[in-house]
Amino acid sequence: MQVHSTSPIVVVANRLPFCLGTDPDTGKLIRKQCAGGLVTAVAPVVVETQGLWVGWSGLHTEDENMEIPEADPNDQSPTAGLKSSQVLPVTVPKKVFSDYYNGCCNATFWPLFHSMPDRAIFQADKWEAYREVNREFARLTVEAVKRLRESHPDSVPLVWLHDYHMMLAANTIREKCDELNMPIKMAFFLHIPFPSWDIMRLFPWDDELLQGVLGCDSIGFHIDDYCLNFIDCCQRRLGCRVDRQQMLVEHNSRTVSINPLPISIPYERFVQLAEKAPKVVKNNPQEQLLLGVDRLDYTKGLVHRIRAFETLLEKHPELKEKVTFLQVAVPSRTDVKEYQELKEELDQLIGKINGQFSTPNWSPIRYIYGCVSQDQLAAFYRDSSVAVVTPLRDGMNLVAKEFVACQTGEPGVLILSPFAGAGISMHEALHVNPYETNEFADTIYRALTMPKDEREMRMKQLRRREREHDVNFWLRNFLKTVDCLSDVDKSEVLG
Ligand code: ADP
Ligand code: F6P
Repeated sequence: MQVHSTSPIVVVANRLPFCLGTDPDTGKLIRKQCAGGLVTAVAPVVVETQGLWVGWSGLHTEDENMEIPEADPNDQSPTAGLKSSQVLPVTVPKKVFSDYYNGCCNATFWPLFHSMPDRAIFQADKWEAYREVNREFARLTVEAVKRLRESHPDSVPLVWLHDYHMMLAANTIREKCDELNMPIKMAFFLHIPFPSWDIMRLFPWDDELLQGVLGCDSIGFHIDDYCLNFIDCCQRRLGCRVDRQQMLVEHNSRTVSINPLPISIPYERFVQLAEKAPKVVKNNPQEQLLLGVDRLDYTKGLVHRIRAFETLLEKHPELKEKVTFLQVAVPSRTDVKEYQELKEELDQLIGKINGQFSTPNWSPIRYIYGCVSQDQLAAFYRDSSVAVVTPLRDGMNLVAKEFVACQTGEPGVLILSPFAGAGISMHEALHVNPYETNEFADTIYRALTMPKDEREMRMKQLRRREREHDVNFWLRNFLKTVDCLSDVDKSEVLG
């Protein structure tokens, strides 16, 4: 079911909902899918409210007037209904963009917010680039608000900022809109964890950052813990008055609401994909698949997971030729050193294990370094006996939810790290600390040998919860925090 908003929306995110590329035959610009959780969740509301989307196109160009192509007539993705006139591409010089994205976003905030401060760099020039790029996003957002005011003269547009790339844009947007006498509502949603004060205070410009986020009226995090961490930081660093019970922060004579809003997936879409996906080819009918699906990122705990599998093979030689680990890893942030090093470490480790345990008919690890289609992904989810979702730290983790939605056949088992946001609510998964290799290996063994009754019972509960709390539930709850929930949707949230 669609979700409706009473205000037209401007979504502001680092990336546009599709990337732009050049057609090798015609040389013309074409849309390429870069669907992730954010796009699938948010694009339909922007389409529905005839809203706008401000973001980077994936091209390094300074041409502000580039012609955005319309969607291909066969496009089935959530962005197919988005007209080119609804998209405002941000153009930033390549060096500044790299300092902002590779430098500040991915080499500072990503590790810091995942509580891995030893991996974080703190450099003034990268932070300056972040400021500059946020100002540019803010400038374009004000243009977007002006446009919406022209097409919807009586409305108060809702500006929705996304993720750790956009933490400084709010105050610039607000000041400019006030100057132009354009009332707006403004919200922020963080797609990654928010760390504790002890970690946050390591960032040399933490006060500016917190004040930036507090420029919004409503701030959303996945879970209570992240909300409470943020409130704590506001109180201790900025001296704000706070109410932990109501989750409110007072700042500059404004009251800002802090909201736990666990993001989710389009559940029914995954069920449908799973119902028609082709069968996964196995070595033999008895073979059990263990599945990992992740961006290749050090927060995902891939090395710990593969080591646990190695321990399992050592402890249980009888699993030879009966169990295969299928790891799908999508290349990510390949310009950042930490990601390049992880790729090398993983290549070596997988090579070593396959070298040691393979037989003429079987290799214990099947490793795909690349993207797979949605159909293929749904087939992997459906036909795997066990999904191993064991990040060292993760804001939510949608893979755990997608696996559960696609379990339309023989019920499998979800192994889940308690350090993912999803670990808070998915109680019927087997929870394991990814740092405890031995325990981890035993948990995989338990999952592989779990009786059918127990698998069925656990999976039934997991599926019921995810079906109810799908992505539309998330959207409705978000719109409620900014008082933009339409009457049609109110019953869904309150009822
Ligand atoms: P993150 O946002 O940190 O990447 P999530 O688990 O929340 O982690 O979301 C990852 C999304 O990317 C999921 O929707 C998943 O289906 C998709 N994905 C991950 N790996 C692949 C892959 N190799 N091929 C296609 N899609 C992938
Ligand atoms: O989940 C966090 C996030 O940064 C999302 O905003 C983004 O869709 C995803 O990870 C992939 O990251 P990137 O845009 O850097 O490739």
